[in-house]
Amino acid sequence: MELELIKMCARDLLNANYAIAFTGAGVSTESGIPDFRGPSGIWTRDPEAERRSYEIFGKFLRNPKEYWEEVLKSPFYEILEKAKPNPAHYALAELEEMGIIKAVITQNIDGLHSKAGSKKVLEFHGGIDKLRCIYCGCRFPRQEFAKEIEERKVPICKNCRSPLKMDVVYFTEQIPTDVYDLSLAEAMKCDLMLVCGTSAVVYPAAELPRVAKRRGAKVVEINFEETPLTLEGVSDYIIKGKVGEILPKIVEEVKELRKKQ
Ligand code: APR
Repeated sequence: MELELIKMCARDLLNANYAIAFTGAGVSTESGIPDFRGPSGIWTRDPEAERRSYEIFGKFLRNPKEYWEEVLKSPFYEILEKAKPNPAHYALAELEEMGIIKAVITQNIDGLHSKAGSKKVLEFHGGIDKLRCIYCGCRFPRQEFAKEIEERKVPICKNCRSPLKMDVVYFTEQIPTDVYDLSLAEAMKCDLMLVCGTSAVVYPAAELPRVAKRRGAKVVEINFEETPLTLEGVSDYIIKGKVGEILPKIVEEVKELRKKQ
């Protein structure tokens, strides 16, 4: 059954004019980064951690210094920094190289798609390698502020002199308009969306596959488990299993089909 679906997905990708990928934490679990809501996800194991995550943006607004102290205490960023791309990331980079996938919209902040070689990556929830000014919208490489961060000083925007935060988008924080508009445009333009490793329950990100579907695109899920996209018939089909195993098989199948063309 899985092999048939893998062959079908390879055919769908080859027949598409503008295929894109939309990814979630499930594409990074095989790099050692826990997801949030899967069987051993961060929120699954510690619902209190999820509740706390709703408070961090307010903390930044009220007291940037306290916010930075909390950020620097968190082991999460170190885990992300050390992680390496896995076969799922490399497979999507290879599909882009082959001209099959035109963009990756990711909810992940780990930067692993870019590290694997994907060129057009839209980080819908930002990334840990940058700082962002919520007042003027400027972003800066985090490394540029290594000294301030090291000295426990709040990094200050070089453009408008406001306090900077990590580029990551927290609950209750608005998605930055630039990446929001670019991602929406991709979802509206695609005729196939490969939805990999997301529970599709966090908005507005989870609206993107629905936008694609409403515009007539084919939506294909790769996930261990069914999601609301499956249950609501947004996805045309779901390939169940490990995305780090399925995506490389899809790449191999695409290559086989291309040889026969
Ligand atoms: N292969 C296939 N599917 C996987 C794998 C894997 N190796 N590992 C996990 N999954 C699936 C899980 O079954 C789950 O459905 O990936 C999905 C991950 O869902 P979440 O943990 O909810 O992650 P995500 O959908 O990216 O969360 C969206 O929520 O917490 C916020 O901002 C955070 O960007 C995140 C957003």
